[in-house]
Amino acid sequence: MTTASQSNIDTLNAVLGQTFRLYVQTHGYHWNVEGANFRQLHVVFEEQYRNLWSALDVIAERIRTQGAYAPGSVAALMALAGPEEEPAQSADDMMAKLITAHEAISATLRSAIGTAGKAGDEVSAGILTDRLEWHETELWMMKAGRR
Ligand SMILES: [Fe+2]
Repeated sequence: MTTASQSNIDTLNAVLGQTFRLYVQTHGYHWNVEGANFRQLHVVFEEQYRNLWSALDVIAERIRTQGAYAPGSVAALMALAGPEEEPAQSADDMMAKLITAHEAISATLRSAIGTAGKAGDEVSAGILTDRLEWHETELWMMKAGRR
């Protein structure tokens, strides 16, 4: 395997780990959110966690097509995801923490798209670009809702 393809697998793994962590975080917020906007946030968090859950499968299977095994345990995924956020204490705090997490994964995705391109892996670059489009749209809507 070339250095470029190994870097590509490493960044796909990082995207998978961060997506997994954000999936768990968002599903937890869906369960635990409270307050005046409960109904709306409960629904928004569900739309988000369903999207993140579906994305995990696409990313992991793309890693398989590149000749590597996908990380298949919570420990392996969390090691790739980096340190975990403190639990959120309020709906506002949840939204702020989600915005931070979506911004972090967007930065990882921007770099991963470049890495996939360098490895000649246009299909992964396309998948990662689709993911970035979704995160940027969610960021816009979450930020617009806080004005
Ligand atoms: Fe539910």
